Amino acid sequence: MSKELTIGLVGFGCVGSGLYEVLNQSNLIDATIKTIVVKDREKERSLPKERFSFDVKDIFEDESINTVIELINDSDAALDIVKQALESGRNVVSANKKLIAEYLDELLEIAKRNNVSFLYEGAVAGSIPIIRNLEEYYNNDSVTSVEGIVNGTTNYILTKSNDGIGYEQALKDAQDLGFAELNPTLDVDGFDSKYKLVLLLKHAFGITVNPSSLLNSGIRKISEREVAYANEKGYRIKLFSRAEKVGNKVVAFVAPHFVESSHFAYSVDNEFNAVVVAGLFSDQQLFIGKGAGSYPTASAVLSDVSALKFNYKYEYRKTIENSNLSYSEDFFVRVYVGSSYIESINEIPFYKVDELFQSDKYSFQTGWVHFSDISNIDFNNREQISLVVLPDPLRLAEDFESKSKDGNYQEFEHVAFS
Ligand SMILES: NC(=O)c1ccc[n+]([C@@H]2O[C@H](COP(=O)([O-])OP(=O)(O)OC[C@H]3O[C@@H](n4cnc5c(N)ncnc54)[C@H](OP(=O)(O)O)[C@@H]3O)[C@@H](O)[C@H]2O)c1
Repeated sequence: MSKELTIGLVGFGCVGSGLYEVLNQSNLIDATIKTIVVKDREKERSLPKERFSFDVKDIFEDESINTVIELINDSDAALDIVKQALESGRNVVSANKKLIAEYLDELLEIAKRNNVSFLYEGAVAGSIPIIRNLEEYYNNDSVTSVEGIVNGTTNYILTKSNDGIGYEQALKDAQDLGFAELNPTLDVDGFDSKYKLVLLLKHAFGITVNPSSLLNSGIRKISEREVAYANEKGYRIKLFSRAEKVGNKVVAFVAPHFVESSHFAYSVDNEFNAVVVAGLFSDQQLFIGKGAGSYPTASAVLSDVSALKFNYKYEYRKTIENSNLSYSEDFFVRVYVGSSYIESINEIPFYKVDELFQSDKYSFQTGWVHFSDISNIDFNNREQISLVVLPDPLRLAEDFESKSKDGNYQEFEHVAFS
């Protein structure tokens, strides 16, 4: 039965103010924002001053408020607010991917114990309804992979880079247009994409992976050299969050990829996001849309509010039923590694080299690496080295067991993960 929602909204920035507007414009969703809590007493607002509070106690001491929507830009403060809201028996909606990725199981335990909902569609890929689809439509074990572009800032920068504009200029353009923060590290180094990947892993495969265990190699090192290589081969470069099922293992990482023209995400440009879900029986499906911004993200939050009216909760069926699945780094991936220094390339433990280009100014090597040999390398901060994943399917470790005793490698069967 539809229930009365009285909302305490924490945060009235880009997404919070967007939510206020989209909720007001929606005739179908009958929910009231009773209290809005913000931080800065001096800031000019689009609503009268009396409409705001500066203390979350005003929400927690009001028994008529049964729903807390947390949309602030401080994940430490957000953790306290979300925990307190769940403990107090209120439903919570959040779009804070960092917070959710880092504390998901703890927050779920509190939500479960208090029999309340904790929803976060806006935390992954903005307006794209991917969490609820993974949860409801793909509510079985048939998903074989989820991959895609879940960060609009990096996609905008890479689109410009692919078109020949250098990284620094592309970043500045993204900042001027409001797509990138003044400190863009979380986006360009792949942290934001990684937090979202943790949530995709939970809803696609039912596994919880600590974000600190996952490789996130970002786009800062993508230079005109990598773009030239992409152009020569007919690729475009995209930052992918990628998760695939291999037997009873799941592999996952964030890295720039060379993408072939036949890939669904090849033409997804600028600030758009795209998620490709592959299933055993359904083959591939592409979800595309705006991954950030006031109204697109608010529309995802609105959808959660609407679901709360009917007491909707994520069931996490795959967590219960796929309990034999686990995260693995035991696979091979074909990569391109470029650097001005051949010594830097030589430090990467290639298992099999396919191409080596060497000149005074720049060198690159392509070939297969065992993922566990590179997963701990901080490519974002390692001097003078860029990593891009090639389009070949990942390969199981067993495929390389044909290595002969003298250290030479025999050709192996091509095995796709599906
Ligand atoms: N922007 C997007 O496109 C987007 C997309 C997906 C997800 N998200 C997520 O949505 C959340 C909000 O992002 P945003 O872009 O809307 O942030 P924002 O524009 O920077 O606004 C942040 C809001 O949080 C308030 N705030 C900060 N600390 C607070 C505290 N301790 N108590 C009460 N209010 C506090 C700020 O108050 P003042 O107004 O007083 O400064 C401001 O209203 C973040 O978790 C973000 O990761 C954003």
